Amino acid sequence: MTLVDYEALATAAQNARNLAYAPYSHFQVGAAVLTASGKIFCGGNIENAAYPLTICAERVALYSAYAAGEREILALAVVTDTDDVASPCGACRQVMIELSPQCGVLLLNMQGHQRLTTPHELLPHSFGATQLDEAHR
Ligand code: THU
Repeated sequence: MTLVDYEALATAAQNARNLAYAPYSHFQVGAAVLTASGKIFCGGNIENAAYPLTICAERVALYSAYAAGEREILALAVVTDTDDVASPCGACRQVMIELSPQCGVLLLNMQGHQRLTTPHELLPHSFGATQLDEAHR
């Protein structure tokens, strides 16, 4: 079992948050994922004047890892400047279930409040490949 350095991952997510492009919401989010190969992939949210095209920090980081060929995600850290820790949106929860189902998810704010959770805790009873396999068609 690989030990995860959550402190390093949190720092990477905090740095990524500074690179977020959020001129509309001014709500900057940073994310960092650790892969089984020991690499860290980061991302901030990237907004668009056509609002629905915005992509969350979590997905930027996860897609960036997958784009580099990584397939085993050990951990994901998400940082927001909020009173309580971040709460990933539903779309990101679904993407976590697909791309990093077994990872540890560290949610934290700028004051250092933390919560360690999992994709399955964040999105119980999720839709996935099993349902597609079971479909009658
Ligand atoms: N956002 C994230 O990056 N991650 C989340 O889990 C929730 C929301 C971004 C999207 C948008 O740029 C801004 O935060 C406000 O919704």
